[in-house]
Amino acid sequence: MTRSLRLVASGEYAFGPIARWRDPDVTPADIADLDQHAAWANWAEDAGFDALFYADFLGFDPVRQLSPRLPFDPTTLVTALVARTRHIGFITTGSTTFGAPFHQARTLASLDRLSGGRVAWNVVTSFTGEGNFGLEQLPSPTQRYARAQEFLDVVDALWASFPESAIVDDKAAGRYLDVSRVHAIDHAGEHFSVSGPLDKPGPARRPVLVQAGASPEGIAFAARNADVVFVAAPDLEQGIDFATRLRAEVAAAGRAPDEVLVMPGFRAFLGADAADARRVRSRHVTPDLLEKARRAVLRESDRFQFANLALDESIPASHLPTDADLAASAGRRSRAQIYLNWAREPGVTLREVLERIALEHGHFALTASPQAVADELERWFVAGAADGFMIGYGSGIAQFADQVMPLLAERGLWKPATDHDLRSRLALPERG
Ligand SMILES: Cc1cc2nc3c(=O)[nH]c(=O)nc-3n(C[C@H](O)[C@H](O)[C@H](O)COP(=O)(O)O)c2cc1C
Repeated sequence: MTRSLRLVASGEYAFGPIARWRDPDVTPADIADLDQHAAWANWAEDAGFDALFYADFLGFDPVRQLSPRLPFDPTTLVTALVARTRHIGFITTGSTTFGAPFHQARTLASLDRLSGGRVAWNVVTSFTGEGNFGLEQLPSPTQRYARAQEFLDVVDALWASFPESAIVDDKAAGRYLDVSRVHAIDHAGEHFSVSGPLDKPGPARRPVLVQAGASPEGIAFAARNADVVFVAAPDLEQGIDFATRLRAEVAAAGRAPDEVLVMPGFRAFLGADAADARRVRSRHVTPDLLEKARRAVLRESDRFQFANLALDESIPASHLPTDADLAASAGRRSRAQIYLNWAREPGVTLREVLERIALEHGHFALTASPQAVADELERWFVAGAADGFMIGYGSGIAQFADQVMPLLAERGLWKPATDHDLRSRLALPERG
């Protein structure tokens, strides 16, 4: 059997499913307990996941933080977790809008070495956090992606500036390093001036780069640079459309279309049959969750004016952004567009839209039996819409692993990952 579907799980699930923190026996100390996060990573490793993914948003969000968020900087947590695991990969997140390339190149080179090539970088251009980095306004998507490209080019140049082969370890001559093989990069661009070289050896192989561009600029950026592309695609049609557009851009960037893996976010609400799964899903819907979604949607566009609308009414167009509003936004337009499409569905009520926002976040989600879920994942794979999935909470990632992954294995669609470094685990070609 060849290895086909790649499966990544959300690292934050260590304290999921969604409302587990409300169990009387779960304390804030548990949520911040390294042992709990390590136990989750060990479990995910044994279950055969390729990697755990840790998202990051560089600012306090008063709605999100009504429920516990990861209480650590993700890269710091990943540094601790690589020491507690043997071969699972970790995808941490780093912003090109707010960070500095020299710092990022050093951190990732260090993590790559410490982990034996197990840490990937989810490259984000950020859609919040400007106030924490001296900016009055978030730069436009075009500006953010232009800076992101220069950022990555500098990181690549820094990694190459200090090759491992410069370490000659000549004990007799008393010369550890051949300094002539380490070179400055003298980068002077629009956004960065970096002389280099890096002061630590670069990674032996380029770390896996993950990206989730959904705008035209974002897709072009992902196509040029990424090994893995995450996407929020709520149905197969949109999944196929995204994968087709991405692969065309990958080819236009001079790369083989199949050297980039498309991984839609996915979550399953599992039950014995469809009716049981609906009951399982409905247990996750609490009134406060709907009220949070009512406020959280403003993060995507302040034109979603749901504050005073009744839950069981349809949503008047005057309370929704227009297409022009979204086109003019500096933020994350793609997710707002998904929510707008849901809100515009004929006959849909505010309650139904808020439920979807709260439980699905714009991602591909199924409320079904394990068999039906396996059928549908296979359909996405065969249609070329997915090379794998990034598995979020749903009714439980452990339940997904216990009930769906064996079915995928039986069909020859998946087998547990055993390789030690992430590039090999994902069967990705070398880069750089
Ligand atoms: C699965 C997934 C995970 C993401 N994780 C993050 C994240 O951790 N931090 C962040 O700022 N953006 C994150 N994003 C947003 C993307 O980086 C990107 O901004 C978004 O998909 C919209 O694309 P665009 O930037 O081309 O408009 C994520 C998107 C997806 C689909």
